[in-house]
Amino acid sequence: MSSLRWKTMAMALALSQLCLFTGVEAFLSLFDIIPALPGQPPVSFQQYSGYVTVDEKNQKALFYYFAEAEIDPFSKPLVLWLNGGPGCSSLGVGAFSENGPFRPSGQILVKNEYSWNREANMLYLETPIGVGFSYSTDTSAYVGVNDKITARDNLVFLQKWFVKFPQYRNRSLYITGESYAGHYVPQLAQLMLQFNKKQNLFNLKGVALGNPVLEFATDFNSRAEYFWSHGLISDSTYKMFTSVCNYSRYVNEYFRGSVSSICSRVMSQVGRETSRFVDKYDVTLDVCISSVFAQPKVLSPQQVGESIDVCVEDETVNYLNRRDVQMALHARLVGVNRWEVCSNILDYERLDVEIPTISIVGELIKAGIPVLVYSGDQDSVIPLTGSRTLVQGLAEKLGLKTTVPYRVWFEGKQVGGWTQVYGNVLSFATIRGASHEAPFSQPERSLVLFKAFLDSRPLPEAF
Ligand SMILES: *[C@@H]1O[C@H](CO)[C@@H](O)[C@H](O)[C@H]1NC(C)=O
Ligand SMILES: *[C@@H]1O[C@H](CO)[C@@H](O)[C@H](O)[C@H]1NC(C)=O
Repeated sequence: MSSLRWKTMAMALALSQLCLFTGVEAFLSLFDIIPALPGQPPVSFQQYSGYVTVDEKNQKALFYYFAEAEIDPFSKPLVLWLNGGPGCSSLGVGAFSENGPFRPSGQILVKNEYSWNREANMLYLETPIGVGFSYSTDTSAYVGVNDKITARDNLVFLQKWFVKFPQYRNRSLYITGESYAGHYVPQLAQLMLQFNKKQNLFNLKGVALGNPVLEFATDFNSRAEYFWSHGLISDSTYKMFTSVCNYSRYVNEYFRGSVSSICSRVMSQVGRETSRFVDKYDVTLDVCISSVFAQPKVLSPQQVGESIDVCVEDETVNYLNRRDVQMALHARLVGVNRWEVCSNILDYERLDVEIPTISIVGELIKAGIPVLVYSGDQDSVIPLTGSRTLVQGLAEKLGLKTTVPYRVWFEGKQVGGWTQVYGNVLSFATIRGASHEAPFSQPERSLVLFKAFLDSRPLPEAF
């Protein structure tokens, strides 16, 4: 593997010397080529990964993985995918468990038949610093990272990534993501539009958000009804969880380090009834028992964070911690001993979860950027009902009329979920039977949704 890599680099050097006068940057991407990942099946598309320095002074470098489209990448859009957390990895979760071309299985990689790189050039970014292979050499930079810093670093990342990949500079660009990326994605899109006023760099064509945190109280408080209607809590506990202490109040107190005794009582009752042996990210999915016992930190207390379901991740953690895999990816471990799904060193400003981003989504729509909000309907962490309420409320506020009335959509001969579209620019869709990580549990339906989104066409109405 490494000799192949040296060969690639030598080739890149030779080419860049040849082309000194035609722009050396155009060949920088050759250094990041992945000839093959250990254990992968043969494929026809090109993969790249490596670092982009976003801050020279503090040596902040963000790690990306880029899978070009399977067929005819030049004619396909560029799609950035971001996972949430805050602090979880788009490489481990997004690329290797959800919508990337491969999934680790033991010692090998298995092809994902419903990979989103069938439709687009997929760029996965580990952000902010301290997540996955992304780092800063100044460890004090991990403290107090917030939405503002993250959005700015993400913007600088893309600007500099375009220097490595000039052929993508003016490509149709979509930003997608899930969970806490309900903050990252609209905030980044907003910065892009501002940047474009000075220099038209980002050809932004749309934004898609899966089970996103858009407005903290609405999103978090819809959890109570979800638990209750799915039989996870009793009538009396539901009453307490809505009137005595609701979830937004609990989280508010928890992040300020002062949980009231009444909220503490309500939450232990909720925790007792829901049980830690039910996956909150998909209430119908079995949990991975070893992970439940191995990772109490992630699961307690009462799943406050939006941290990822650990069950999905064991194979990925093993794979990405192999030395040969890290070498093939051109990845380095800086200041950490292991690659982790969700960062242990990042100290994110947790209270930023309370910043509403639904209003930013409104600004994007006013600027003509289409937005899709979709929900895996088995997720109790950011349930579909909260997202649906927020989208409906935004449509009303913007005066957008319903252009596709609430109806089912199909994948094959089965119902893939429900959808409603407002003003042909704001869409809501559920994915039936899907978890918080929708492309993980319903890859086929997720791909149909993704394709319709890229084609800006309504979801299939019939079969
Ligand atoms: C970028 O693409 C748009 C169409 O999407 C086109 O109108 C414009 O001329 C292109 N700009 C450059 C610099 O290629
Ligand atoms: C949640 O609790 C807070 C504080 O008690 C209250 O202001 C808010 O209206 C409640 N929200 C819901 C949806 O019940």
